[in-house]
Amino acid sequence: MEVKKNWIPLHWANAVNTLDGEVAWRSPSNIALVKYWGKYGRQLPSNPSISFTLKNAHTNMRIKYSSGNGAVTLYFEGERNEQFEQRIKRYIESINDIYPFLENVDLEIHSDNSFPHSAGIASSASAMSALALCLCSIEKKVFNTLGADEDFFYKASFLSRLASGSACRSVYPKLAIWGEHPEIEGTSNNVANPVGSRVDPIFHTFKNSILIASAKEKSVSSSAGHQLMEDNPFAEVRFSQARSNLKSLMEAMAKGDMAKFIEIVEEEALTLHALMMTSKPSYILMQANSLILIDKVRSFREETGLPICFTLDAGPNLHVLYPFHIAKEVEGFIENECRPYCENGLIIQDEVGDGAMAI
Ligand code: DP6
Repeated sequence: MEVKKNWIPLHWANAVNTLDGEVAWRSPSNIALVKYWGKYGRQLPSNPSISFTLKNAHTNMRIKYSSGNGAVTLYFEGERNEQFEQRIKRYIESINDIYPFLENVDLEIHSDNSFPHSAGIASSASAMSALALCLCSIEKKVFNTLGADEDFFYKASFLSRLASGSACRSVYPKLAIWGEHPEIEGTSNNVANPVGSRVDPIFHTFKNSILIASAKEKSVSSSAGHQLMEDNPFAEVRFSQARSNLKSLMEAMAKGDMAKFIEIVEEEALTLHALMMTSKPSYILMQANSLILIDKVRSFREETGLPICFTLDAGPNLHVLYPFHIAKEVEGFIENECRPYCENGLIIQDEVGDGAMAI
């Protein structure tokens, strides 16, 4: 594992400031264009991925820390949540080699999501990146380290990854890339990196309408899905397809080649679900309405020639992607033709955002 040279394990004996205080971050969710699906070792990705950082779907997290003996208390949307608390406890234990001082600190965590709990959208990327950012702020306050933004976000992305792979991309604005690619500069398995100005600015204006085909909880978690890739007969072909799709997507985005962008993004979404269907045991997360909505998006594109496409995460909901300048037409289409196929008519409007911020 590549750990930056100056990352000595931080013990409370080395603290330069008091072990009492409060930190808070807002961190967004993200939607992958090339999907991370399959991992090895300590949360390392089997293939590289890239995502849009979202704006409206985010977690606000506030942590009060005080000297103690490693107790974690977690309030989610105002109520104690023991399941989430256990996950965070396990995570804190798992990073004991990096932050041994947390054994001497009690954490009281307050976490709130901007999106409805009932929408069935994944919250681990926003919550786990918010947690990692808060831990880095605690480090900064207690040890006077991570002074430069670049160091701060590098470590926050690293710690986010150890909590939930896709979370490492959420800390950066607009688009973030994660996973080594020999032909793409600034890629690493350890952390995500911002894509910055390597793409046509049109991709910084993208909107994302999330059509909630079903708000039911997923039958198979992403973590279990990643594990099933170990025995998937298509795994190696998939990992090389992802590398090649990432390279082509970066080239298409640099040129503003919308047709190529659409082709790759939809191929990635359907491949992800094909991998679930070809896992042992096989499973299907799409619902009947997901297929109807896919068909509607494709027909609308064919009829109008407008650059709209869809992607899916590990669930049944459609993320419709389109540039801001065609928002009026697309939103009319979504309202009239898609809303009837959404559970309780639920649609969440989002767009490319500016990454995490201290609050
Ligand atoms: C389909 O990051 O949720 O959204 O590392 O086990 O926490 P863990 O998995 P997670 O997997 C996300 C999978 C995905 C694709 C992606 O975001 O790249």
